Amino acid sequence: MEQKRENWGSRIGFIMAAAGSAVGLGNIWRFPYLTGMNGGGAFIVIYLGCVVLVGLSIMIAEFAVGRRTQLAAVGAYKTYNKKWSFAGVLGVLSGFFIMGFYPVVGGWSLYYIVKSFTGLLTVPEAIGDIFGAFIGSPVQPIIWMLIYLAVNVFIVARGVSAGIELAGKILMPILYVLLLIVTIKGLTIPGAGAGLSYLFVPDWSVVTGGTFLAALGQAFFSLSLGMGCMITYGSYLNKEEKLPNNTLIVVSMDTSVALLAGVAMFPALFAFGMEPAAGPGLVFVVVPQIFAQMGGIGPLFSAFFFVALFIAALTSSVSLLEVCVAYLMDEKKMDRRVATYGTSVVMAVLCALSSLSLGAMSGVTIFGVGAFDFFDILTDKIFLAIGGMLLAIFVGWFLKKEDLKDELTNGGTLSFGLFEVWYNIIKYVIPVLIGIVATVGILSIEQTSLMIFGILIIVVLAIFSKKL
Ligand code: PFF
Repeated sequence: MEQKRENWGSRIGFIMAAAGSAVGLGNIWRFPYLTGMNGGGAFIVIYLGCVVLVGLSIMIAEFAVGRRTQLAAVGAYKTYNKKWSFAGVLGVLSGFFIMGFYPVVGGWSLYYIVKSFTGLLTVPEAIGDIFGAFIGSPVQPIIWMLIYLAVNVFIVARGVSAGIELAGKILMPILYVLLLIVTIKGLTIPGAGAGLSYLFVPDWSVVTGGTFLAALGQAFFSLSLGMGCMITYGSYLNKEEKLPNNTLIVVSMDTSVALLAGVAMFPALFAFGMEPAAGPGLVFVVVPQIFAQMGGIGPLFSAFFFVALFIAALTSSVSLLEVCVAYLMDEKKMDRRVATYGTSVVMAVLCALSSLSLGAMSGVTIFGVGAFDFFDILTDKIFLAIGGMLLAIFVGWFLKKEDLKDELTNGGTLSFGLFEVWYNIIKYVIPVLIGIVATVGILSIEQTSLMIFGILIIVVLAIFSKKL
């Protein structure tokens, strides 16, 4: 029996779910440290340029393809052209592999919520050691990861409306409030002005080609683009919604959380004379030191911050899991629950390997890196960028312009004055831009064997595309 496709219950529910997917570790963990490593304000300006020029256009395209076909990534490509199935499968694989390390970091955020009250902040100088010892230990981080993953499973198993949408509607406002509280606190610390000027007064002398690469890659990751996630979310959207307007809201929410996270951290960081270019350890090592300096209320603010990080991560990993589940439901006709439980068991195994690769099994490598870095590099540097480029080429060169116009104007009932601009950006600008960035990005991977392996996967998928 053909089942009716699940749908978002309301417009606000869809927006919260899509924004929930976008707002994640990418905003609160990655964006601030990339900003710190790339010199501050100038990186932010270039990042905003990438979001407006590339991110917005691709997100509109993903929503349009999903809603038009009413199918998740693979089915959506297949509907138009069987040879393109591989681009959808590549997306599902990206989601699957990102879920091989993302829940590990999600588990860290849970641990830090508890640890905020139980000694994390007592000796500020020891925070780095506490973090290192925790992520390297064999059992504890795996237990926290499993708890984190279980929450994901619970939400996704409940379905689109009663699970993903409800979680987004409840959690996203809480995330905003918590971040705002921490931000205001940070701004009131004497000496916070230096951090603000670091963030918002660009120093162009620090910009290199690498700055552009980092900014574009970050825009993709942060907006959940290039792996069919927004195609899947668009497929649950009804035909009355205005796609360009909704996209603008989702993108604005994502960008505002990234900026808010920056404003929450840098003023306090500068006020306490800490190092902005601390890299990936920024959130877990440097930020807790800020809270440690606050005295008695420190633990509370620290807990607020890590709850915000947990929520952000959760609503994103839910979307990553959903991409895999929707694929199995649409293409393999699997039951939602079976698909959710099955995929998450495999993800738990991958995550356990990732976690162990940071400690007990650090000697075991795949293509020269540990499991954690393997999944990260494979997706971030290879799969997402290529996935985004394939989508732009597909939409720009293989779909009918009239169909796209029809979808974006809801059958001609709405006006979308920027249609031509959008279409030309998708067709000409984005494939070239991402082509350059992806090539440079992939060539910059130090482990040649890993680079070849990643490309080989894409080639093999493309060759067997019709069978997928
Ligand atoms: N956008 C998420 C973040 O910023 O953390 C990560 C992500 C989620 C990437 C979903 C891709 C995706 F499909």
